[in-house]
Amino acid sequence: MKIIVDTPEKLAQLAAQRYVELLKNKPNAVLGYATGSTPLGLYGELARLNAAGEVSFAEATTFNLDEYVGLEGTHDQSYRYFMNKNLFDKIDIKKENTNVPCGIDMTNEKAAQYDKAIEAAGGIDLQLLGIGHNGHIGFNEPGTPFGSVTHVVDLTESTINANARFFESINDVPTQAVSMGIKTVMNARSIIFIALGADKAEIVKKMICGEVTPEVPASVLQLHPDVEVYIDHAAASLL
Ligand code: GLP
Repeated sequence: MKIIVDTPEKLAQLAAQRYVELLKNKPNAVLGYATGSTPLGLYGELARLNAAGEVSFAEATTFNLDEYVGLEGTHDQSYRYFMNKNLFDKIDIKKENTNVPCGIDMTNEKAAQYDKAIEAAGGIDLQLLGIGHNGHIGFNEPGTPFGSVTHVVDLTESTINANARFFESINDVPTQAVSMGIKTVMNARSIIFIALGADKAEIVKKMICGEVTPEVPASVLQLHPDVEVYIDHAAASLL
């Protein structure tokens, strides 16, 4: 695990360079993307570099980590909508090459097909991850088996509360999601993890220095051979 501590702006620039390098060497790379507020700086930087002609996504394929169950892709809080608005509409990627799990009429059987699609595309070259305050990656809540593939998840109360800020009322927050499993994430050849802010310091410490346990899903990253951890000074303050 390589740990990079810097300002949020510099981290976004450094992480973006990983995409520039990867896509230069492998224009048809398979990219795993994440939602949440944390990747927004990186997405802004990727859009800027794309507009400047420094990177092209024209041949790339993407797979997002997760989606809310029950929200159509046109809903302004769906992760499909988020990705279109914050990245896909701003870069030269072909929309048909972007994949976000479907949140409608989802079952575990259908969800597992997502892993098959990733495999058929050649596997994920570079997976981006953020972290929830309880250590979730994607929407893999504490207790999720390390062998899990893409599946339907019951969101915990703490995740529902954390995400309520994006909805009009807490009653509008979906209670389920569909998420790549821990195994799906661990199968990625390389991983970029980003966490920003003092409120992530405690969980970042557990992830990096704590016991590897399904109770802290992100701790599994200690077992991955190629992870870069991008954290700002506040998120790194307890290390
Ligand atoms: C959601 C997403 C996660 C993300 C987390 C943290 O729960 N499913 O993939 O890492 O939010 O979000 P933020 O970056 O806004 O703190």
